[in-house]
Amino acid sequence: MGGRNREKDREILFDYTSDSITLEYENRLLKETVNQLREELERFKTPPLMVCDIHDVVNNKAIIRIPNGNKFFVNVSNNCKELKAGHSVLVDQKNLNVVEKIEKNKNFNVEKFVIIEKPEIAWESIGGLNNQIEDIKEVIELPLKNPNLFKEVGIQPPKGLLLYGPPGTGKTLLAKAVANSTNSTFIEVVASELVQKFIGEGAKLVKEIFQLAKEKAPSIIYIDELDALAATRVEIGTSGEREVQRTFMQFLAEIDGFKHLGNVKVIGCTNRKDILDPAILRPGRLDRLIEVPLPDIDGIKHIFRIHTKNMNLDKKINLDKIYKNIEELSGAEIKSVCTEAGYFAIRKKRKIIQENDIVDAIKKVKKEESGSKDYTKMFG
Ligand SMILES: Nc1ncnc2c1ncn2[C@@H]1O[C@H](COP(=O)(O)OP(=O)(O)O)[C@@H](O)[C@H]1O
Ligand SMILES: [Mg+2]
Repeated sequence: MGGRNREKDREILFDYTSDSITLEYENRLLKETVNQLREELERFKTPPLMVCDIHDVVNNKAIIRIPNGNKFFVNVSNNCKELKAGHSVLVDQKNLNVVEKIEKNKNFNVEKFVIIEKPEIAWESIGGLNNQIEDIKEVIELPLKNPNLFKEVGIQPPKGLLLYGPPGTGKTLLAKAVANSTNSTFIEVVASELVQKFIGEGAKLVKEIFQLAKEKAPSIIYIDELDALAATRVEIGTSGEREVQRTFMQFLAEIDGFKHLGNVKVIGCTNRKDILDPAILRPGRLDRLIEVPLPDIDGIKHIFRIHTKNMNLDKKINLDKIYKNIEELSGAEIKSVCTEAGYFAIRKKRKIIQENDIVDAIKKVKKEESGSKDYTKMFG
């Protein structure tokens, strides 16, 4: 009997000790968790640090540039070693002291932000615009293909040019065609995206775009909607405007920084030439201006023929009547007319495009475009 009791006691004792061990263990775990949560809470409570650029380093202090462009002379923490102008740092928001240096990925992959291609647009796919094609060949193609000619004659070819005129008239097409004919890399940048998407990084991105262009030379940097970057600014008030201004300055500096006879060329493009800052058009910059207007009647015929080349047109179509009807349209709109006419035929289960398909298509395109444009006022 007694033996059995003793055994029971031992069991109970064992239970208690093992319980207390587990409990102590659990307690320890919970304490650790509490501590971790406390630390996390602390971390979440600390105010954010601001990312700034070092403008200059003077003794143990630094001139920093905060994101809105203002500069401050501030203290630097001891653990920031070897600070140099251009470095990115974290600063305390209240006293602006530099707390930490950060290794920002300097080569933030510029190739992701621009379109790089080797276009396959042939001169023959451009309707009208004969003078413009001649001009662009002279300004871009000739110096890229025959730099010695310029050296011998002793003149400097333009570094770039500006294409201006209403949308859809073939500006991009011209630029791609010249890239193709010179076997150049075509680097396309949309200026409005450059200034909107890359707040604080615009200038850096511009630098890298030109770097990329040099690496991939011969190359053409095509800047669409240049006016978004290079509009005249009467007042530079907001930090956003200062940022655009900085990006623009960097752009000018990059153009000024490369050689006339280098194999990088810049083509700017705008339908708001009237608002461009004249600085961009100064000699040595985009100093050749090429107007790309709406097509004249010959251009219209030519463009229509290009876009209907592979279409099965009814022989009975009165083309002159069609041409008259598309007189005010741009090249891009004429292309839409052709595509839409094809759809009208398909809907009627025909493989031949008849005159009424084209007439309907013209109506549709004109209706879509009406109200959305009055470009006559837009370019000067
Ligand atoms: N002169 C033209 N000849 C042939 N097609 C044209 C012409 N102009 C415009 N297009 C058509 O319209 C499309 C858009 O033209 P695009 O060159 O981008 O105009 P822009 O750059 O002037 O706004 C072209 O891809 C092409 O199909
Ligand atoms: Mg375009």
